[in-house]
Amino acid sequence: MISLSVIVCSIVQLASSASCPQSIPTVSVVPRCPSNEKEWISAAERKNCSALENCHTCSKDRSFVYHCVLNKNATELVEVCAPIWYMSGFCARFSMTDRRIINDDPALDCTKFVPPCLTRFPSNESFKSENVDELDELIIESKDDSKEIEKISLDTTRKDVLEEVANFVTMSGKNILCSLKNVVTIRDLREKLSEKESVPLKCLLVVDKENGVLYQDATVFEPCKKERYTLMVGNKNRTQGFKEDGNVHTDVISNKQISHGKCQMCCGHFTVPETLFDWVKDKLPGSGDVELQCPRCSDVWEEEELVEKCNMSEDEKLFLNCVLEVNEKTKKMKQ
Ligand SMILES: *[C@@H]1O[C@H](CO)[C@@H](O)[C@H](O)[C@H]1NC(C)=O
Ligand SMILES: *[C@@H]1O[C@H](CO)[C@@H](O)[C@H](O)[C@H]1NC(C)=O
Ligand SMILES: *[C@@H]1O[C@H](CO)[C@@H](O)[C@H](O)[C@H]1NC(C)=O
Ligand SMILES: *[C@@H]1O[C@H](CO)[C@@H](O)[C@H](O)[C@H]1NC(C)=O
Ligand SMILES: *[C@@H]1O[C@H](CO)[C@@H](O)[C@H](O)[C@H]1NC(C)=O
Repeated sequence: MISLSVIVCSIVQLASSASCPQSIPTVSVVPRCPSNEKEWISAAERKNCSALENCHTCSKDRSFVYHCVLNKNATELVEVCAPIWYMSGFCARFSMTDRRIINDDPALDCTKFVPPCLTRFPSNESFKSENVDELDELIIESKDDSKEIEKISLDTTRKDVLEEVANFVTMSGKNILCSLKNVVTIRDLREKLSEKESVPLKCLLVVDKENGVLYQDATVFEPCKKERYTLMVGNKNRTQGFKEDGNVHTDVISNKQISHGKCQMCCGHFTVPETLFDWVKDKLPGSGDVELQCPRCSDVWEEEELVEKCNMSEDEKLFLNCVLEVNEKTKKMKQ
């Protein structure tokens, strides 16, 4: 009997211990946690975690429930959506770096808090618990149901090989299938896609075409919002086909001396397609600007000129167009 409950306990722990990047965007710091059932229910409703249930691969049962726990340092309280977590006597804390609820620090023995922090900072349903015994009951509840045990352990092993495949669409409407296994950030996604499509990493960017911006590498990828991610496949041979004159010029953007692979802008100044493209990418998305000026002579570099001198791919052209449209709207709204 005792050994069975130990097994159940460790299985449940295991099932809940996977890193869950999709919890990160749901974290909010709160001054206090709900202190009774009524408050708890209303906080959980407000947080609406169940709406995200199918948006993560953190637990096979797809549970995503409201938790109010300490942060990793035990310095603040946070509300977070996470797979259901069964506590075992130590205070549950949410770790941003581990991307999951942890409770591995014996220094934070809940029962030693006054009042015991179990009643203050419980996992999703332990607001009901007055003491650890009741939590034990919660864990042991599933003990008699051997099917449940089987299911949990099966799910745990399957989770490791869980390979979810998603379809992404490029700016020009091409479909690319990609496995989401181990994809946590936008950078992970780009790496997978660039390998799959055999294009250099710098030529595979993820954009938000609605808002005319690029997703940053460190941003957590949210499977639920897949339709917001559009791929932009770049030109991997950007520098090819430009006339060589054999002269050395100063790059108007980087100030470096350049001898080949140059392009000359309409104002007469020189740069390199790659440098120009990076500059466009830095300066235009999200800036509200509708044109770029030569950094030296302030001549306007029009859209067609940027497309031509950056030797943009179809995707890049379309994205630049989106960016300028969004920026135009922003500009009008400001006036
Ligand atoms: C929770 O999210 C769902 C889906 O987005 C929405 O339909 C529902 O109205 C939300 N409920 C609350 C209480 O915000
Ligand atoms: C946690 O503590 C470490 C140092 O002990 C500190 O660097 C970090 O900023 C703290 N994090 C939070 C969320 O308080
Ligand atoms: C706690 O999680 C369980 C399992 O998902 C769910 O059935 C229950 O409604 C949750 N309780 C609260 C108060 O959110
Ligand atoms: C594109 O550039 C790569 C080097 O970056 C080169 O190996 C390849 O042959 C070029 N492709 C074409 C079509 O010129
Ligand atoms: C632009 O890139 C393509 C390869 O994608 C290349 O064939 C072409 O010559 C390049 N140069 C110019 C000036 O268009």
